[in-house]
Amino acid sequence: MAEPPANPLQRPLADGIVPEEVVTRTESRWAMIMAAMLVVMMAVIVVTGVAGALHPSSNVEVIDPLTLHLGGEFAQSNLGTAIEPDGSATVRLIGEQYDFVPHCVRVPANTPVKFRLTSADVVHGFLLPDTNVNTMVVPGFVAEVRTSFAESGEYAMPCHEFCGLGHHAMWTRVSVVPKDQFVARGPLERTRCAKQ
Ligand code: CUA
Repeated sequence: MAEPPANPLQRPLADGIVPEEVVTRTESRWAMIMAAMLVVMMAVIVVTGVAGALHPSSNVEVIDPLTLHLGGEFAQSNLGTAIEPDGSATVRLIGEQYDFVPHCVRVPANTPVKFRLTSADVVHGFLLPDTNVNTMVVPGFVAEVRTSFAESGEYAMPCHEFCGLGHHAMWTRVSVVPKDQFVARGPLERTRCAKQ
């Protein structure tokens, strides 16, 4: 039987111990696989972002933010609550630094309500606590959310997207009234919370 080499590094490894060069080769292969995965994931983000054109996640409905007040769906006279022929309500609002227009809207309880919002300047947020309503309001797009209010009451609506120095003061109100009371109010009081 041959004598083992005097240098311990040159002695054969005991069974079950993986030689250093095998460990190094395996680790560098895994490092390359991980790096390749990172490159692929970054490429997917960039390609889908550019090819799909970044847009809000809710629905893609574009609008020119520069002409909102001048005509079309978001003209001043068209804002607030409108009752559709099927009895549902559509509420149109514009978010702008630092308020929502109109500042308060009135809707009937136990009725399907569709909120349609857009922004005249920067990204705002629209959230009604204790409901499923929570959306970003992005300039150039119309955000649409649907809900229905089982209880009458006042819902404070804070802008929840930082939109500038007046962000903390930006909020609106949704006043939910029983259906019969809603119908009994005058047209101006129905579209917004203005007193007659
Ligand atoms: Cu609008 Cu914050």
